[in-house]
Formats: sequence, C-alpha cells, structure tokens
Amino acid sequence: MAEFDEIINIRRSIREYAKKDVNDEDILKILKAGMQAPGSRLGAEPWEFVVVKDRDTLVRLGEIKPRVTNAPVAIVLVANIERAFYKTVWQQDMGAACENMLLEAVNLGLGALWNGVAPDEERMTAIGEIIGIDDITNLKPYSIVTVGYPAEGWENKFMDKFDESRIHYEKY
Ligand SMILES: Cc1cc2nc3c(=O)[nH]c(=O)nc-3n(C[C@H](O)[C@H](O)[C@H](O)COP(=O)(O)O)c2cc1C
Repeated sequence: MAEFDEIINIRRSIREYAKKDVNDEDILKILKAGMQAPGSRLGAEPWEFVVVKDRDTLVRLGEIKPRVTNAPVAIVLVANIERAFYKTVWQQDMGAACENMLLEAVNLGLGALWNGVAPDEERMTAIGEIIGIDDITNLKPYSIVTVGYPAEGWENKFMDKFDESRIHYEKY
C-alpha cells in the first residue's frame, strides 16, 4: 500500500481502462471511503451511491458522459436532499465524498475519474432517468466516478500542480 502523501500526489484523472473487472471488495472499499468524507452535518450526510456494472446501462450513461462507456464500473453519486440537515450545501458534501473515492481507488491500485454531472439540470435529469430517478427535486445525481485498472499510458503518476502564487499569508 502506498503512503498517503504518495496517493495524493500520484492521483490522476484516468479516462481509459484496461479490459479487466474490478472486484466487489474494492468497490465496497471505495464506497466506504466516500462515506468517510466530512459532511456539513454528522449523521445527516446526503450521499447515496448507485453502482453500475451492466454494460447496456454504462453505454447509456456514456451517451451523456462519454468516458463512462468503456469503464468496467461506474458509481453514480446521488444527493438525497431529504437526508441533509443543511440542504443548500449538498454539492460541497458530495464533492468531499467524491474526492475520497478517487483517492481510495488510487490506494487500491486502480484509476478513477470524476465525471461531472451537477449542476447542469438537463444532464442531472438525463442521468437520473437512466438509473431510475424520475424527479431530481430531492434526488440529485451529482457526479459519476468511473473506476478501473488504468489502460496503457494512463497510469497514475506525479504531476506537479504546486503554484506558489496562489498562496497568500495573513491578507490577500
Ligand atoms: C467538478 C469536476 C468535474 C469534472 N468532470 C469531468 C468530466 O466530465 N470529464 C472528464 O474527463 N474529467 C472531468 N473532471 C476531471 C478534471 O478534468 C481533472 O481533474 C483535471 O483535468 C486535472 O487533472 P488531474 O485530475 O489528473 O489532476 C472533473 C473534475 C472535477 C473536479
């Protein structure tokens, strides 16, 4: 297992996957990592997850988010607003869960991609319809995390994104 700082540093958006299945134990670990994220209110986190492995469904999702088509598994993150205490910050809650999932994928030797869905309501509605949500008022498809073994040339690797000019001390 890699050191945590290494995981953060080598995580890359992996958009192409090898033709190899991801085992259910690893998928569960990724879901657990998502649920370990900070949320705006402990016990009232909005996140729910739809795990999709069915090829036809992946292809349909891929018509809206093209990178989903060839992934062995896609996890649709859904914000259930009825679960949330602070109902206006669901996108922050979901973002925290999403990033945790990407990092756990790297930790497991996998690659993952954050496929953006929210806040585009047309896209949220279209994704919702495919996974069985017919009304996005309270159940909001937020993103799709695709997971798989990276295809050749798509390995996780360090890329230096540090930019000192973004840092301000004491005042902007
Ligand atoms: C909110 C959000 C939405 C994103 N949506 C997509 C997407 O739809 N398709 C995609 O290929 N990458 C998507 N990405 C990944 C970014 O393009 C990627 O993180 C960025 O290019 C930096 O590359 P890195 O992840 O390898 O550091 C998204 C990332 C975020 C945070």
